[in-house]
Amino acid sequence: MSYDAKFRVWRGDADGGELVDYTVEVNEGEVVLDIIHRLQATQSGDLAVRWNCKAGKCGSCSAEVNGIPRLMCMTRMSTFTETETVTVTPMRAFPVIRDLVTDVSFNYEKARQIPAFAPPEGVAPGDYRMQQVDVERSQEFRKCIECFLCQNTCHVVRDHEDNKEAFAGPRFLIRAAELDMHPLDARDDRADFARDEQGIGMCNITKCCTEVCPEHIKITDNAIIPMKERVVGRRYDPLVWLGNKISRR
Ligand code: SF4
Ligand code: F3S
Ligand code: FES
Repeated sequence: MSYDAKFRVWRGDADGGELVDYTVEVNEGEVVLDIIHRLQATQSGDLAVRWNCKAGKCGSCSAEVNGIPRLMCMTRMSTFTETETVTVTPMRAFPVIRDLVTDVSFNYEKARQIPAFAPPEGVAPGDYRMQQVDVERSQEFRKCIECFLCQNTCHVVRDHEDNKEAFAGPRFLIRAAELDMHPLDARDDRADFARDEQGIGMCNITKCCTEVCPEHIKITDNAIIPMKERVVGRRYDPLVWLGNKISRR
């Protein structure tokens, strides 16, 4: 069964733009990305959109659909009524390059700042041994597809461009937490890094990041809150305090 849907798509570039109205065919089983592709093929050949897998696995097709940050390839048209206007806009927290494509390089800068996995001394690659039970906690975070929807949603940076310098965002707080929970990572300063370099204190646990994660990673409860507890524990643990005092002498 087909019908004609009303679509409103943001068109423009870094200098500005506007919402443009389209009427476009929708067929049973289609997703928002199918409709954007049909617009490209039939009405607007220069409409810019980033995508790769159309299977919810590459994290490229992030946008805002009726104001909600989502993957376009995983948003079924059956979510909307046939008479509803579907508005598609680029992610708001990142600078627009063109139409639905944003410049997400902020995220790559934050990724580069995280100290890499450090294996224990004397263990060669290929000789690492871990038990499943030891990796279970952090395995959840490996599901991240780097769609950056959580980064786009977090109010700390969404409406405050000037916070971007000091705040890494939820995706990279889970990366630090993942390494912190890794049974073979030899670095002992992930919590300090989260506090001093990633600005974990700026997160006030609103959990909006968790709500939009297409991989259903419990970003706040399983990564950010345990890391916050480690940060606080370090600061107030009398043994840590004493250790720091002694090592500073
Ligand atoms: Fe996307 Fe979830 Fe990864 Fe954030 S944590 S980048 S929302 S997959
Ligand atoms: Fe932002 Fe998620 Fe914290 S939305 S404020 S990082 S809980
Ligand atoms: Fe890959 Fe949507 S196209 S996640």
